[in-house]
Amino acid sequence: MSPHASPWTKTSWQQHTVLQQPNWPDKAALAEVLADLSIRPPLVFAGEIRVLKELLAKASRGDAFMIQGGDCSEDFSQVTAPKIRETLKVLLQMAVVLTYAGGKPVVKVGRIAGQFAKPRSADTEMVNGVELPSYRGDMVNSAEPIAASRIPDPRRIREGYYMAASTLNLLRAFTRGGFASLQRVHAWNQEFVSQSPMGRSYDRLAKQISQAMQFMETIGIPTDTPQIRQAQFFTSHEALLLGYEEAMTREDSTSGGWYDCSAHMLWIGERTRQIDGAHVEFLRGVLNPIGVKIGPDYDLDNVKRLIEALNPANEAGRLTLITRLGMKNIEKALPPLLREAKREGYNIVWSCDPMHANTYTAPSGLKSRSFNDILSEITCFFETHWSEGTVPGGIHLEMTGENVTECTGGARNIIDSELSNNYLTTCDPRLNAEQSLEVAFQIAEMIRS
Ligand code: PEP
Ligand code: CO
Repeated sequence: MSPHASPWTKTSWQQHTVLQQPNWPDKAALAEVLADLSIRPPLVFAGEIRVLKELLAKASRGDAFMIQGGDCSEDFSQVTAPKIRETLKVLLQMAVVLTYAGGKPVVKVGRIAGQFAKPRSADTEMVNGVELPSYRGDMVNSAEPIAASRIPDPRRIREGYYMAASTLNLLRAFTRGGFASLQRVHAWNQEFVSQSPMGRSYDRLAKQISQAMQFMETIGIPTDTPQIRQAQFFTSHEALLLGYEEAMTREDSTSGGWYDCSAHMLWIGERTRQIDGAHVEFLRGVLNPIGVKIGPDYDLDNVKRLIEALNPANEAGRLTLITRLGMKNIEKALPPLLREAKREGYNIVWSCDPMHANTYTAPSGLKSRSFNDILSEITCFFETHWSEGTVPGGIHLEMTGENVTECTGGARNIIDSELSNNYLTTCDPRLNAEQSLEVAFQIAEMIRS
């Protein structure tokens, strides 16, 4: 019998095996937090979620392109105005570069305002020679390398909700209130980037955009329009802690369907995408756009069953498959997936995560990723889609607006021994602002040629 034969409810996931959940020591406190959150205001609204789905439907057809990016794991201590602003700036810059080059709208989706829970490969990890329970994201425990700080604390779920709310509040202000206006395209270039080759390329492009707008004004076309003065920006995170996601799930009063109002888009990670598992069961029933990570060891039949379970009506924009195959595997692993999906006529947004299968441990012990490996996977992703006649619809990056040294390479050629200079991530290594912009310029180059 299909694992999805029974009707869906927002609690039906509880009848399925649920992986990667913390072992909360205080179950009563957990229940109290979740009951409280279930009556708090939604973070996003059904109408916004439907707008994103329409944009992703365009991306599935090649009429738009999605940039999804942000921290591997957001850190409560970093929920500050400068940090949020810098991340937004880089995403806006990348979007401008790609819109200008690709000549199609760019859908901006942050890994932000809720990316607080992490799946882990092992229950414990070694930190400075000491074995500790693994850090599972700020919504669960603290990254501080002390055993007591690693005990899951349900109060952190509540804190995560309020952190997400305050992040979203600022994002809404920035994107509606003039900060994201194309008239300010120059101001998004950070100081530390502006003197770099990428920063200079960006300045040239920004100048062209400003000139185009001046021209429009000169001939009497108003530039004081929402299209120019506002940006559409969406949020996303891995739907990992199902108790929290359930508490944020609401029935839409206008259309009647169920929406997970913790973010516009949710994705299922590589470690929790079992067809009969709780994560697939939960997400199949909410109407948000859903992503699924697909790693190099995927089983084709299994992926097909996932597609049919999560998008039985084959609705365009509903399902994004985020391939994270690794630059060594992508050439072999991507074509069979694309061919089968094409043969079946599945509507899918294909997105490339060039981060998660290209991680290595540097001699210093720090986890890193090389810019060249990331770029190789992206290049192969585009070329494979073009040769298979399918559509490369998006990119999924771990990145930050800060000047970190977490990934090696890029225009400034960060080397292994420099990683410790400004290595700030609590989880996976991120592209810094300049490296992120460089990715955008490289993709722009590919789209143009
Ligand atoms: C992530 O996106 O941070 C992540 C854990 O990815 P994956 O599920 O693809 O390993
Ligand atoms: Co990660």
